[in-house]
Amino acid sequence: MKKYTFLDLGMINSPYMAEVQEAVARVIASGRYVGGEECRRLESGLCELTGAQEAVGVSNGLDALRLILRAWVDRGDLEKGDEVIVASNTYIASILAIIDAGLRPVLAPADPATLNLDTSRLDEALTPRTRVVMPVHLYGRACWDESLKNFVERNGLLVIEDNAQAIGARAVTTGLSGTYMTGGLGHAGAFSFYPTKNLGAMGDAGAVVTHDRDLAERVRALSNYGSDYRYHNIYIGGNCRLDPVQAAVLNVKLPYLERENEHRRMIAGIYDREIYNESIIKPSVGGCDMVWHQYVVRCAVRDMLRDYLSEAGVATDIHYAVPPHRQPCMAGADYGVAGDAACQAEEIGETVLSLPISSCTTQEDAHAIADIINRF
Ligand SMILES: Cc1ncc(COP(=O)(O)O)c(C=O)c1O
Repeated sequence: MKKYTFLDLGMINSPYMAEVQEAVARVIASGRYVGGEECRRLESGLCELTGAQEAVGVSNGLDALRLILRAWVDRGDLEKGDEVIVASNTYIASILAIIDAGLRPVLAPADPATLNLDTSRLDEALTPRTRVVMPVHLYGRACWDESLKNFVERNGLLVIEDNAQAIGARAVTTGLSGTYMTGGLGHAGAFSFYPTKNLGAMGDAGAVVTHDRDLAERVRALSNYGSDYRYHNIYIGGNCRLDPVQAAVLNVKLPYLERENEHRRMIAGIYDREIYNESIIKPSVGGCDMVWHQYVVRCAVRDMLRDYLSEAGVATDIHYAVPPHRQPCMAGADYGVAGDAACQAEEIGETVLSLPISSCTTQEDAHAIADIINRF
């Protein structure tokens, strides 16, 4: 029986093998193993991609989020206990970063059609302590529209984008600085290059992108022991620097990102046209230029569907079965919940299923998977 893998990172990276080996060999030969040319090149590549003025390579996506929030607190833009509105069905990392910075997450409902923050219900999460909105571009879909932009401007809020899953996605409407690409829409954006991401490193890596030079300088210093120049420490910082070996890998892969994303769009298009099973809700395809980090269907009998697909050779995954507020670490945490956001996230967690969608999935695979699903 043919097996349809969910994700095979070795296979995904094999077309880049020769170039990556050369690039890594260059780093080794340079003798510079922290910072350096490859890191700077990646940062300019990210500025070019997003239209942002500044980019700072960091250790991973969680640190990217943490450092932005921490820098805003240090600068006096935020005070401890200020509230950050975030979708209740996000990945836990978004919430961990908020709590780590001494801020209070307020879980807001997702739009059932997009599974992103419901931008028509933001007022339900607004309190006198609201200072920030964190749109998470979940599954590769830009969480950005006129009502989010108006909400932010009307209430004088900061916007930190969690762009871990949507590098290369375009919003339908311009961001605060007039650009369209995710990561550059708000005041600052966090990127993850975790190996499974659309632009994946061969280890951990991340970046902060912003139009705010002072913020970028603070993030750079905070990621490097709080140091502005050598052996001079102005903040209580940490070590959250981007590894130049990972930067070299990413510099090889960045020029091919659009090709990878286009392949994902093609697979999503096949699923969208060919899956027609009444028990399955497909993700909406209109509205923005998605990069399909995940193709997530919903099904009331999700576990049954998953078992059926597994028996038919189709590997799937779940993003995410248990929402952040139900994780054991949140039991004693201080967070807010707007309206029905908590039970809604639980319902999403019980019904979502991610189908294979990456460069490992061929057109033929997608036709066959759609056919298998239609026989469920
Ligand atoms: C939505 C979201 N935010 C943040 C992160 C954190 O990124 P990293 O794994 O690079 O720390 C991830 C990914 O893992 C994510 O999916």
